[in-house]
Amino acid sequence: MNRVVIGAYWGDEGKGKIVDLLASDSDWVVRFNGGDNAGHTILVNGRKVVLHILPSGVLQGKNAAIGPDVFFNPKSFFADIKEVESKGFRLAGRVVVDDRAHVIMPYHIALDMSHENSGRRIGTTGKGIGPVAKDKASRREDITIHDLLFDIGKIREVVAAKENELVRNGIICQGEADDYAESLVREYSSYASLLKPFVGNVMYILNNALATGQSILVEAAQGTLLDIVHGTRPFVTSSNTTSGGAFANLGLNPKLFRIIGIVKAYPTRVGEGLFPTEMDDEFGKQVQMDGFEFGATTGRVRRIGMPDFVALSYSAAVNGVDEWVVTKLDVLAGKEFTAAVSYEKDGQVSSEFPSRLDGWKPVYNGRTYYFDKFSEDQAMAMVEMGFDALPDGIKDFLKDLVMHTRVPVSMVSLGPERGVTVIKNVLERTKGWLDGPR
Ligand code: GDP
Ligand code: IMO
Ligand code: MG
Repeated sequence: MNRVVIGAYWGDEGKGKIVDLLASDSDWVVRFNGGDNAGHTILVNGRKVVLHILPSGVLQGKNAAIGPDVFFNPKSFFADIKEVESKGFRLAGRVVVDDRAHVIMPYHIALDMSHENSGRRIGTTGKGIGPVAKDKASRREDITIHDLLFDIGKIREVVAAKENELVRNGIICQGEADDYAESLVREYSSYASLLKPFVGNVMYILNNALATGQSILVEAAQGTLLDIVHGTRPFVTSSNTTSGGAFANLGLNPKLFRIIGIVKAYPTRVGEGLFPTEMDDEFGKQVQMDGFEFGATTGRVRRIGMPDFVALSYSAAVNGVDEWVVTKLDVLAGKEFTAAVSYEKDGQVSSEFPSRLDGWKPVYNGRTYYFDKFSEDQAMAMVEMGFDALPDGIKDFLKDLVMHTRVPVSMVSLGPERGVTVIKNVLERTKGWLDGPR
C-alpha cells in the first residue's frame, strides 16, 4: 500500500506521530516539500525525537528519501541524523537526498529575518524558506546540491549577483562580497564532501522501488491551509503542502497512492494570519496547556481554534483525501466544544472556504460535544477494544466530521505515544455512516 500523508489545517496536526506509526509496513518514507521549517515530534516508549528534515518513518529503520523540491539545510540534515542516533535509534535503511534540492544558505536565513523585521511580518519560522524559494524561481541565483558537488564556484557568482540585496538588508557591508563568498565556498565545500554518500536521483529510485513491489509512504510538511496556492495567502509557506504537490514534486504516479489527511481535533496556527474559529479565551488557553501547543521548530505558542468543518471539507477536496486520521482528541476530554459548518459575511452564508478570509465569521452547528477525561490505561483499553469502546462524545464528533466532509476516519489518536492509537474497526464503522442515510 502506497500512501501520501498531508496535514488538513495549518500544520502541527501530528503528522510525525502518524507517519512513524504507518511506516512499520512501508519500505520507503519520503519528504517532498518544505524544509527545516517543519517540526515533527515522535514519542516511542518515552523517547522523544524531533525531526525537521528527515522523514518521520526513519525511526522504524526504513529507507528515507528527501525529494528534489525540498529546501535543504545541510546543518539541519546532520543535526537530525545526530538526534535519531543520540536517542538510541539506528538509520538502518538507505538515506537519499535528491541532487536537485535547493540549498538554504546563511543569507537566506538572514534575509528571512530581515523581511520579518521590516514591519510586514508573515510570522515565518526564520529558516530562510521564502528567500530560498524566491531564488529557486529566479533560476539564476539558486544553489542546488548538484552545484555544491560539481560547481561550488557558482556561490561566488550568486553572491555577486545578490550583493546589492545583501548590503541593503545589512547582511554584508559594501566591499565585503568577495570575502563573504569565499567563506561560504569554504564552509559549503565541507558539506559537499559529507553529503556525497547520500546524493541520488529520488524520482528514479522511488519509481524503481514501486516497479519491484516496494511500498512508499510520503510525508508532507506543514498543512493544506499553508499551501502557496490554496492556503491563506500571504500568510502561507513557500511550497506546495497538498497531495498534488507530492506527485508533481517527486514524479510519482498519483493512481498508485491513497491520500491520508491528518486532522487535529482542533486547529492550531503559528505566526500571523486570520484564523476564523480562533479561541482567544479560557478554552483556548486550556487547550494550549493540555495539548502542549508550543512549536517544535521555534517554541512559539500555537494559536487555538474550534474544530472547523468548512476548512476540513476544503482540505478534503483540495487533496482528494481518502481517509482522515484524527489526533489529539484526548486534549478535548473534559471540555465542551462545537464545530463550524459555514462562514458568514455581511449576511451572506457560505459553506466554501474563501480565497481571502477578511470579514468571514464562523457559523457553528449548534451542537455541544463532550466526553470525560480518561487515563492512559483507559486509552489503552480503547486501543485494545477498538472503535466501539470510544466514548459517545467522540463518536458524535466523528460522525458529524464524516457526514460533513464525506470522508471516513481510519484512526483515532489518543496520546503522543506511537501505540496510543485506535485502529480496530474505525474505518469499517465510520464508512458505515456514509453508506447509511444522510
Ligand atoms: P506535525 O508537525 O504535524 O508532525 O506535528 P507536531 O509534531 O509539530 O505537533 C504535534 C504534537 O502533538 C507533538 O508534540 C506530538 O507528540 C503530539 N501528539 C500527536 N498526536 C497526539 C495525540 O493524539 N494526543 C496528544 N496529547 N498529543 C499528540
Ligand atoms: P509542520 O511540518 C506550523 C508557518 C509559519 C508561518 C508560515 C510561513 O511542523 O506542520 P515559513 O517559515 O514556512 O516561511 O513560515 O508557515 N509554518 C508552520 N506552521 N507547522 C509547520 O510545519 C510550519 N511550517 C511553516 O509559522 O506562519
Ligand atoms: Mg510540527
